[in-house]
Amino acid sequence: MKTIKIFAIIAIAIIGFAFTGIQKKQPAPWKIPAEYKTMKNPLANDKASVNKGKMIFMKHCRSCHGNTGIGNGPKAARLKTFPGDFSSTKFTFTDGELLFITLNGRDEMPNYKTKIPGKKDQWSLVNYLKSLKK
Ligand code: HEC
Repeated sequence: MKTIKIFAIIAIAIIGFAFTGIQKKQPAPWKIPAEYKTMKNPLANDKASVNKGKMIFMKHCRSCHGNTGIGNGPKAARLKTFPGDFSSTKFTFTDGELLFITLNGRDEMPNYKTKIPGKKDQWSLVNYLKSLKK
C-alpha cells in the first residue's frame, strides 16, 4: 500500500514537470522607440537582398526560430519564452521594429549589434524575416 502511494506521488510529480516544460511564455509586447517604428528600410526588397538575409538567418537565428521562422529550431525546446511565429498574420512588425528587436534583443533573445555589424546585412535580414509571412 505504502509503495503504491509513493509511486503515485512520483508519477504526479513527473507529469507536473513535463507540463511546465511544454508550456512556454508568450512574448510580451516590445517597447520600441518611436524613431524605429517609422524607420525606412533603405534596401529594395528584392530577391538578392532576401537571399542574403536568408544566409544570415540560417547562421544566427535558425537555431531558435527554426528554418521557416515558426519558432521550432533545435534550441527552442530549452527556451522559456516562445520565440514567435514569423509566418503568422499577427506578425506585423514594421521594418524598423524588426531591426530594433534584432539589434537589441531581450532576455533569452540575443542582441546582434556586434555579431551582424553591416547595415546592408541587417536590412537584408529584415527583408528575409518579412518574406516568411504566409
Ligand atoms: C537563443 C535563441 C534565439 C536566437 C539565436 C534568436 N532569437 Fe529571436 N527570439 C528568441 C526568443 C526567446 C524570443 C522571445 C523573446 C521575448 O519575447 O522576450 C525572440 C523574439 C524575436 C522576435 C520578436 C518575435 C515576437 O513575435 O515578439 C524577433 C523579430 C526575433 N526574435 C528575431 C531574431 C533574429 C532576426 C535572430 C537572428 C539574428 C534571432 N531572433 C535569434 C530567441 C532567439
